[in-house]
Amino acid sequence: MLPFTFYSPTLFAFGENAEAQTGQLIRRFGGSRVLLVYGGGSVKRSGAYDAVTASLREAGLPFAELSGVQPNPRSGKVYEGIALARQEKSDFLLALGGGSVIDTAKAIGCGALYDGDFWDFFTGKAKIEATLPVGTVLTIAAAGSEGSDSMVITQEAGNLKWGAPKTDVIRPKFSVLDPRFTCSLPAYQTACGTTDMMAHICERYFTNPPDVGLTDRLCEALLKTAVEAAPRAIADPNDLSARGDLMWTGMLAHNNSCGVGREQDWASHQIEHELSAFYDCAHGAGLAVVMPAWMEFVMDHDIARFARFAVNVFGCEMDYAHPERTAREGIRRMRAFLRYIGMPTSLSDIGARAEDIDAMVAHRAEKPNGFPFGGFVKIGPEEMRAILRLCDR
Ligand code: NZQ
Ligand code: ZN
Repeated sequence: MLPFTFYSPTLFAFGENAEAQTGQLIRRFGGSRVLLVYGGGSVKRSGAYDAVTASLREAGLPFAELSGVQPNPRSGKVYEGIALARQEKSDFLLALGGGSVIDTAKAIGCGALYDGDFWDFFTGKAKIEATLPVGTVLTIAAAGSEGSDSMVITQEAGNLKWGAPKTDVIRPKFSVLDPRFTCSLPAYQTACGTTDMMAHICERYFTNPPDVGLTDRLCEALLKTAVEAAPRAIADPNDLSARGDLMWTGMLAHNNSCGVGREQDWASHQIEHELSAFYDCAHGAGLAVVMPAWMEFVMDHDIARFARFAVNVFGCEMDYAHPERTAREGIRRMRAFLRYIGMPTSLSDIGARAEDIDAMVAHRAEKPNGFPFGGFVKIGPEEMRAILRLCDR
């Protein structure tokens, strides 16, 4: 295991009716004027908005609202939110939604305390040192932003979908996880979320340092739980046991408890960010296309690890004479599982075009330190092109 420090100060309130604690949690973390951030309306239809605002009123907390955050959240909403937070003298941001809403709130929190352009944090011109406190009430098990040290925003000028450098400063103060709030998710979004959490684990699982036995097993347990729970949640959207498993798996997949002490990869995410920048596809859908192709491309780098993944996650039988066959079977089952839960598995499935591959690689190259990326296998422009070609099935 590599040396590490791990600081994960988020309080999690899990379970039915946990949202009733929201107002008190904001008080506990020093908030007195709230900016409530949410998306395109699902929270009003599901009743989450009513339940959470009731808790704010009960705690005597005045709140302003920023609505209309889109999936693959844009810089325009962040600028709007920074202006609103300043105008309303908000001292606490409450994100009610999924990764897009939470990341928007995180970016507003940092930008509101900074004199320059919040995008400076993404380009490396400025370092995040302070933020308004952020709390979350999660409505989709997916991105893991409710416990993570990262945020991803698309800068509209240049269509740049970038993550900010990871920092513990932006981890939420608290996250309310009520599995009931995810019962209104359509099957497609449930599947996208499952794919994203599985990707967060795989980005950590495929690693080079030895002696990572404990975190390997934690990763395998999370992957197996996602594979088992997602079909149940899709078959019965009100299956609270499946919804609860997915919710906690999504958090553990990305708060880095399984990523410590090892090198992490993140190549599939870097490639996917170009797909969602170009085609505005759901992040999980883009990952479903990229991840199995990336696996095929890098498999030879560590056949034993891919064979172990096949056996321990997808129940393949180990072929000791030909471990590469076991490894390949694991990747085949991974793709079959994603297809089974309704995910796209090729570029054309998400409306992407092979003719755009060169443009996506060139766009990636505009990012500071854009190439190479990937901690398991280094990916340069040629390799990224080859992986995207494997997605053109
Ligand atoms: O906007 P509304 O109407 O709320 O609809 C949303 C949205 O259309 C809908 N939805 C959410 N909860 C629902 C619901 N519909 C019905 N019932 C509910 N209970 O789902 C759609 C997707 O929402 P979104 O927030 O975009 O989903 P997700 O949580 O997957 O977040 C994706 C974003 O997070 C970023 C992704 O790149 C993407 O931009 N990521 C953030 C990370 C982080 N900060 O740590 C890590 C991830 O790797 C990821 O990159
Ligand atoms: Zn992700």
